Amino acid sequence: MYVFLNNMIVPEANAVVSVYDHGFLYGDGIYETMRAYDGIVFMFEKHLERLARSASFLKLNIPDRQYIRDAVYKTLSANELSDAYIRITVSRGKGPIGLDIDLCRETTFVVISEKFRQYPESCYQEGTRLILAKTRRNLVEAVNPKIKSLNFLNNILAKMEAKEKGAYEAVMLNSDGFIAEGTTSNIFFVNENTLCTPSSDAGILDGITRDTVINVAKKNGIEVKEGMFYPADLLGSTEVFFTNTTAEVMPVSCVEDVRFGIGEITQALRRLYRKEVERYVNELRAKS
Ligand code: PDD
Repeated sequence: MYVFLNNMIVPEANAVVSVYDHGFLYGDGIYETMRAYDGIVFMFEKHLERLARSASFLKLNIPDRQYIRDAVYKTLSANELSDAYIRITVSRGKGPIGLDIDLCRETTFVVISEKFRQYPESCYQEGTRLILAKTRRNLVEAVNPKIKSLNFLNNILAKMEAKEKGAYEAVMLNSDGFIAEGTTSNIFFVNENTLCTPSSDAGILDGITRDTVINVAKKNGIEVKEGMFYPADLLGSTEVFFTNTTAEVMPVSCVEDVRFGIGEITQALRRLYRKEVERYVNELRAKS
């Protein structure tokens, strides 16, 4: 595979970063995960907007949008990929030991792309298992979950809990005990035919898939409630699923030991999400 590293496409083996990079030393940096369908990066502009928002939280300089767009498409083309996983990483860059951001002169900018590996179809047909993690989501006032940062230990600790219990994903609560989000996903559930999801005030990453799902649900007459929810609301619901860029709409068959069927709203939203992807890709193709 070829990697875009600081202005150059290089073979993966040469795509190396200094041990003095503050991304490595301190987790000081940000990233975005995107997905290309048939050569088109889905919701590219929204990912670029979120990358810029994350960067501004950290006062991190990132290249301009056109540069990033070109870098991503160059990486896809170097790897001859059309259905791809794409990751943009920007770190503070190389500098002497110390936390002062001005120790680093130039950020490190990386684009990785790989052939998209579909989740096993059985996950979508049978649903996945979730746990409620003991690890709480970072406080908004500590490391705001809105920053898609390289500092991922909070999520890794919760994912370790899920793995220990043989589950795929862990639902994290915020410090007030309300449901926040998964380790790499947003959580949805259905209560009396209303689609419920923690509001952005719960301290979550504003997922781009979450946003798309909310929009297609509303457009198709499904009532949506963004709010503050307790675990009991989730456990007492009739359908559960999680969303992210790579999994899209992923059904859940059980949370802890409470079981859920893959209900009609989940199935409808899975289909509607796919249609939205197709619409987006066709529209962009027609323009180019
Ligand atoms: N993760 N919440 C967290 C903590 C996440 O890391 C992610 C995405 C999401 C969903 O965001 P989106 O719908 O924009 O993908 C929510 C990506 C997939 C990752 O870490 O690779």
